[in-house]
Amino acid sequence: MKHKPLTYREIDSTNAEAARLLRSGNLPGGVVILTDYQSSGRGQEKNVWVSDPGKNILMSWIVYPAFLSVQDQFQLSKAVSLAITDFLGAHSLDARIKWPNDILCSDAKICGILIENGIMGGQIRHSIVGIGLNVRQERFPEFPWKATSMFLEAGTDVAPGGLAASLAGFLDLRYDQLAGGGAEVINRAYLQRLYRLDVPSIFTDGRSQFTGVVRGVDDSGRLRVEAGAGITSYGFHEIRMLCRSGS
Ligand code: BTN
Repeated sequence: MKHKPLTYREIDSTNAEAARLLRSGNLPGGVVILTDYQSSGRGQEKNVWVSDPGKNILMSWIVYPAFLSVQDQFQLSKAVSLAITDFLGAHSLDARIKWPNDILCSDAKICGILIENGIMGGQIRHSIVGIGLNVRQERFPEFPWKATSMFLEAGTDVAPGGLAASLAGFLDLRYDQLAGGGAEVINRAYLQRLYRLDVPSIFTDGRSQFTGVVRGVDDSGRLRVEAGAGITSYGFHEIRMLCRSGS
């Protein structure tokens, strides 16, 4: 970790705190905000993110990816997703990236990512990378999808605070790789870890259900799905994979 983390016993949301801190002054890139408990944890699409106190990694990581154009902003998501799977791999967990924002183990969600970019004048001014990674939680009654944790998958029984420092190290490595011109290496590694790549899956585009095959993610972060005669690229809210798990 590049800087000492800002830690809170309880806070509304680490992403909300990151936004407040960014408004109140300059923070160095790579700062990590950590908490044991969030009273208003935020998930994707205005969902809440619920986590038992002290059981999981709840963190926000602030970076300034000035080297990325707004069109390429999904590259940061790729680097972050990969870093999380690198970290889980170091703990003997074979994790997959379920496009666009979930990390799965054994077909169950182990981690959610919420990246909030501050864009001004057509440029990314800052990115708040929110990560909720299940470490020691064993039951997930409030999750609308099948969920798991490092403890359930690999018996990891370590304080989340200690693991967060190691996760931040993996984030720094992938970020530096991206900043150093490694987008193609990241694209290849991302593809290798993409959930259900080249496997027929059921999707919905909001109008109908169909069988298709994930073939990759294009440069602007859209999911490429082969169905019928050809390959179509879908944006964030245009398609959802229907399966037993994930959001
Ligand atoms: C999702 O899968 O819906 C994304 C979940 C992101 C949750 C994390 S927990 C730390 C950070 N602070 C928040 O309020 N949300 C993110």
